[in-house]
Amino acid sequence: MTGGGEFPATGNDEPVLDTSVAHHARLYNYLLGGKDHYAADRAYAKSLTAIYPGVPATARANRDFLGRAVRFLAGEEGLSQFLDIGTGIPAPGSTHEVALKARPDARIVYVDNDPVVLAHAHAFRAGRGSGTTDYVMADLRDPEAILRRAGQTLDFGKPVGLLLLGVLHAVGDDDNPHRIVATLVDALPSGSYLAVTHAGSDLVTPELEARGTEVTRRQSRHQYTVRPRAEVERFFRGLDLVEPGLVQPQYWRPDRQGGSDQDIPLWAGVARKP
Ligand SMILES: C[S@@+](CC[C@H](N)C(=O)[O-])C[C@H]1O[C@@H](n2cnc3c(N)ncnc32)[C@H](O)[C@@H]1O
Repeated sequence: MTGGGEFPATGNDEPVLDTSVAHHARLYNYLLGGKDHYAADRAYAKSLTAIYPGVPATARANRDFLGRAVRFLAGEEGLSQFLDIGTGIPAPGSTHEVALKARPDARIVYVDNDPVVLAHAHAFRAGRGSGTTDYVMADLRDPEAILRRAGQTLDFGKPVGLLLLGVLHAVGDDDNPHRIVATLVDALPSGSYLAVTHAGSDLVTPELEARGTEVTRRQSRHQYTVRPRAEVERFFRGLDLVEPGLVQPQYWRPDRQGGSDQDIPLWAGVARKP
């Protein structure tokens, strides 16, 4: 699949795009100024923004962190393989765009469980160069299936950058997200990296958290489990967090463009597997 890859035909599993209920992937696309959203997504964004005006800035800060983290991994650490789980709808500055600039030979596997994202997966093609992208429709709660499928494109004998950005808070405690992350990290060799962003329960007031949960329950099919810093840090167990450690994204290696100085309610970190 060199130079772009063949994406899975949808066949009889043609995605059913229910536009009457808000979707996180489309909400995120709307917040980032994209075009792939419907009235239900915009209404959900409006409700969230009414209780917390910093929602669009939070989406932007998450996306900016993705760019800085992938530039660091591909550019400074020389990684040429990425497993990006919870990909979202393609938007400028996607993982393959950033990685391929630094490493034209990079191999990127995208994973998302949302049919909306699958419908747009063609936009993840690598384009020119020797790089490869692949798209897998799978659920983070089945890490074994993800590893099996990603192994068709990635060489797990060489370091991989595992990206879990804005997705772990979509996995409830009942699904044991720490076991899921450990399963994925265990499959990667020394010199691999894990990057995480996660909504922080200790970065918002309990009242705001309760109101956000209620709006999400009413207007989308999803759930969010926000977690305190210590719980997020546990995802990095056995790994070495790179400087500046687990911080709010605006403090993680800010670049010259400056970015937001708003108080972003996310925890963000990158760690190396020794
Ligand atoms: C907020 S977007 C994050 C996009 C991208 N990672 C970024 O940081 O810019 C979250 C994505 O995670 C996906 N997602 C949520 N739960 C998932 C699961 N259990 N398995 C796979 N993907 C999931 C959603 O469909 C959505 O596209």
